[in-house]
Amino acid sequence: MEKRETASLLAAGRSSMSPSYSPQSVVLDHGKGMRVWDREGKEYLDFLGGIAVLSLGHAHPAMVSALTDQISKLTHISNIYFSEPQILLQEELVRRTFADRVFFCNSGAEANEAAIKLARRHARIVQRSPKFEIITLEGSFHGRTYGAVSATAQPKYHEGFEPMVPGFSYAKFNDLASVEARWTAHTAAVMVEPVQGEGGVRVASRPFMQGLRRLCDERGALLIVDEVQSGIGRTGRFLATEFYGIEPDIVTLAKGLGGGVPIGATLATESVAAAFTKGSHGTTFGGNPLAARAALTVLETLDREALTENAARVGAYLLGRLRALARQQPRIREVRGLGLMVGVEVNGTADDATALMVKGVQNGLLFNTAGGNTLRFVPPLIATEADVDLAVAVLSALFAMPA
Ligand SMILES: Cc1ncc(COP(=O)(O)O)c(C=O)c1O
Repeated sequence: MEKRETASLLAAGRSSMSPSYSPQSVVLDHGKGMRVWDREGKEYLDFLGGIAVLSLGHAHPAMVSALTDQISKLTHISNIYFSEPQILLQEELVRRTFADRVFFCNSGAEANEAAIKLARRHARIVQRSPKFEIITLEGSFHGRTYGAVSATAQPKYHEGFEPMVPGFSYAKFNDLASVEARWTAHTAAVMVEPVQGEGGVRVASRPFMQGLRRLCDERGALLIVDEVQSGIGRTGRFLATEFYGIEPDIVTLAKGLGGGVPIGATLATESVAAAFTKGSHGTTFGGNPLAARAALTVLETLDREALTENAARVGAYLLGRLRALARQQPRIREVRGLGLMVGVEVNGTADDATALMVKGVQNGLLFNTAGGNTLRFVPPLIATEADVDLAVAVLSALFAMPA
């Protein structure tokens, strides 16, 4: 590749990229563990992890060697054949969860698309019922494809794209009465995030999640839990659903599963998965050997390095440090989270939060904003207390700078 000046690269990046994105003015070049470096050699502490994706951090040795080995053997074969990594990954996901069956795809939106289609088809062909509606929650985020964005109960994501896919209704998060009020004779499923990430890091309450399970059981509907962001150890459990003492019917995964290599998964019980009869759903790249090997390596490394336990411990430490900061810093309104999925709501607007994020980049700390005025911290699960101390020190300095 021809060596180009960073300024010229940035200008080319801005002029040719879809205007739906607006990245920061940095060109990242390489990473190691919790840190990344840009082309100019400037170092950043990564508390965003590619938005809750890099479970093992950057360039983890286990990942480098597994992917190097896999890429030299097989990267893609299609679902017309089996590959060993795909079979082993299916087995591992089944072993670790409520699920009996796994459908692989390439992103969170696609995993949710499959969940939505599976819930409708389950009503039709297993329950032999005309039910098709899915209740989702205000503040949710399920992805950008038409089904997933229609499920996303945030009007800003619908603007200009109407008409949305019919059959979704929206209830208030953490408000069971609101879900009951939305229920109709056509309700086939409820879809919920245990921790709303994009919605501003809001944790579902135990009575709410247990109440959803009860309602679905009583009324013959499915409980779909979107763990695209909260899954794979991030909250201190393999699935955040485990905190609530309930078993879902369908769970969707993506982000942290591949540790940076795109993969999504829709997990279901045997009786629900039965609705996906031969040929009813599929995707070319889903579960390809490269992505499956990446995900297997993530799961093996979570176990070997006790990273789920680490996420619980370091996450609690991060929450504690941020709550202590909030007591001294009037610009912080609230600190929320579970494990290494943490939000700091600021007193101010979305612009104020964005300004802090930009200053974070300038001062070598990566995080982003969610739900408007909330700063979101979703670092790799390898983060240590020392990383937290450094991040909180930088954040404290950012708050002390003039707004
Ligand atoms: C809970 C949740 N579901 C679905 C998605 C969509 O995932 P993707 O961007 O991989 O399509 C996201 C992405 O942020 C998410 O946080």
